[in-house]
Amino acid sequence: MSDPHDPKRARLLAEMGIKPLWRLRDGEAGDGAATAVAVADAVVVDAPAEVVATPLVATPRAVEQPATVRPPAPAMPVAPQRPPATPASVPAVVAPAAHAAAVASMDWDTLRQTVLDCRACGLCKQRKQAVFGVGDQQADWMFVGEGPGAEEDERGDPFVGQAGKLLDNMLAAIDLKRGQDVYIANAVKCRPPGNRTPEPHETAACHPYLARQVELLQPRLIVALGRPAAQTLLNEEIKISAARGKRFQYMGVPVVVTYHPAYLLRNLTDKSKAWEDLCFAQDLMAELKA
Ligand code: URA
Ligand code: SF4
Repeated sequence: MSDPHDPKRARLLAEMGIKPLWRLRDGEAGDGAATAVAVADAVVVDAPAEVVATPLVATPRAVEQPATVRPPAPAMPVAPQRPPATPASVPAVVAPAAHAAAVASMDWDTLRQTVLDCRACGLCKQRKQAVFGVGDQQADWMFVGEGPGAEEDERGDPFVGQAGKLLDNMLAAIDLKRGQDVYIANAVKCRPPGNRTPEPHETAACHPYLARQVELLQPRLIVALGRPAAQTLLNEEIKISAARGKRFQYMGVPVVVTYHPAYLLRNLTDKSKAWEDLCFAQDLMAELKA
């Protein structure tokens, strides 16, 4: 797919913590100036021990076509200017449809406060705090993860643990930096106990918040990190290995998928695939900006 001698590739692999192993080409041993070949799939990485479990299991069907997106969200009324004294959050007791409709017209501050106060699903019970999202509210790029882990739950920001360090390296590999032209959010805003995968009813309960974040942000491109994030955005069962390199859509915004950084910490050989996915995303972004 790409030239192993490309200096950009070498830099990207280095940013992602992939040290290429070098081996002699067959027949070249002993010729003095033997050419070394980078084997990107054979990686040597210092993997931190503690990672979030993100199982990638086989799904009934692979994606053949760009996904049919969920029905477009209703046109959003301009968020009303609330007087400061108005209670910001929507009570958890309101019906889901009314809740979603209220969320759909919130501004950033109201949305954040509503998430922080939310008790719309059982994940509120064991969280220390909800993790809203972080970044540049004018960003072209949006990255969506699965849900907070222990460290995120503790600190209130997404991707601040080991997986977050790898995400930062992945961002650096495509010249992005947390807070600059990137917004980072999760499919669920509260930590699933024991870092289990969020249940469909939990991602569904939390979905209006993500939808509103996308709508307020209007990113040019969304990168879904891992299967739960991708399935939440695309509203269908997917397998990352089958969905990589394809362009999907969510609320009119192009979406690409790649492996979750926590998965990559446990499956080092897929890091080079994630790198390819980031290159694909970068090319797509250039196209979208052209
Ligand atoms: N994993 C995620 O999906 N999100 C985080 O914020 C941290 C780890
Ligand atoms: Fe509310 Fe989402 Fe937290 Fe559930 S996960 S309590 S829906 S913020």
